[in-house]
Amino acid sequence: MKLLIINGPNLNMLGIREPDIYGKEDYPALCDHCERACKALGADCDIVQSNHEGELVDIIQNALGAYDGIVINPAAYTHTSVAILDALKAVGLPAVEVHLSKVSEREEFRQISYAGMACEKTFSGLGFEGYTEAIRYLVNMCK
Ligand code: DQA
Repeated sequence: MKLLIINGPNLNMLGIREPDIYGKEDYPALCDHCERACKALGADCDIVQSNHEGELVDIIQNALGAYDGIVINPAAYTHTSVAILDALKAVGLPAVEVHLSKVSEREEFRQISYAGMACEKTFSGLGFEGYTEAIRYLVNMCK
């Protein structure tokens, strides 16, 4: 099975960005973590990051026919983007939402997740392990 792992805006700044919230490990370390998790769980993956909403929509649309599932951390677009929600619904691929931080314990404006409405499951507050759990969930789902 082949998974597409999508990361939204500012996740390329991991390690520098608010380390008290997002940790000290950088974005390449996250990619490495995801690649290892996929290998251990028997999945292939591609990993992409964009700071641009329209580009994220294009990436999701292009996943149709090329991947069996999507792991997505839409970052700030989680809380604003109906376009990303619609793209996930349009392709209809099984998708799992991940957040490094525990969003439910943060600001009020983070309490809505549009993307999450098109996802089978959400892992939030587990750091990099949230991606492992999302990958595991999709691998088990597609067995
Ligand atoms: C985030 C949580 C979002 O609220 C925030 O805008 C991010 C990262 C997380 O991984 O915890 O950029 O998605």
